[in-house]
Amino acid sequence: MTSMRLYINIDHVATLRQARRTDEPDPLQAAALCEAAGADGITVHLREDRRHIQDQDVERLAPAVRILNLELATSAEIVDLACGLRPYQATIVPERREEVTTEGGLDLSRPNPRLRETIRRLEECGARVSLFINPEFAALDAAKDLGVPAVELHTGRYAHTWRQNDAALDELRRAAGHAADMGLFVHAGHGLTYLNVTPVARIPEIEELNIGHSVMSRAIMVGMRSAVQEMLHLVKPPRR
Ligand code: PXP
Repeated sequence: MTSMRLYINIDHVATLRQARRTDEPDPLQAAALCEAAGADGITVHLREDRRHIQDQDVERLAPAVRILNLELATSAEIVDLACGLRPYQATIVPERREEVTTEGGLDLSRPNPRLRETIRRLEECGARVSLFINPEFAALDAAKDLGVPAVELHTGRYAHTWRQNDAALDELRRAAGHAADMGLFVHAGHGLTYLNVTPVARIPEIEELNIGHSVMSRAIMVGMRSAVQEMLHLVKPPRR
């Protein structure tokens, strides 16, 4: 069994900030709190539409956090930026503008020169490259052929179906085993929550989980009482 790493995706700190285009909450401060709590790494997705994380966020995070996992699509402009910042890890994801979140793994069924070039450039700048793929043998074999060291298995199907049956969990187990047999490092993520994460975290070949939405949601709830009390203290100072 490999030891597990937990990387926290803090995109939604920026989602909240962008709702007002102001300067709070600050992803850099959130990253520091995640690290102080024991997170092994910080993950952000710099999307082409910049709906949450901005270039400036990545520029500030890259030198400040211990381990940065930058998620990015194969857009030349973002690859240029990534290469300038040299994140520890670069996870290549598919991107569609209309999607709410990354809704499937990379399509590796056809030759993709742009993907090959992106991998080459990111490796050249020193990043550990991981490909976000569906937990399917064909995609894993194609990832192996592309020469990357790691893959991240998309756990979305599991997240949608774990209450009904174990089919998606079994699929993840088989995929993780196949990936490890080929010498790939195995990461996983998407839609994992406090309720469904444990069986995935117990798959022995998976060594890294990337979790965002559920942790950000929980952070709001566990922080609400203090946040309200601090504001009350300001607006209703204790009378002497
Ligand atoms: N891994 C990848 C590649 C992702 O794109 C995302 C979503 O940004 C996650 C993990 C985290 O998913 P969630 O926010 O549902 O935990």
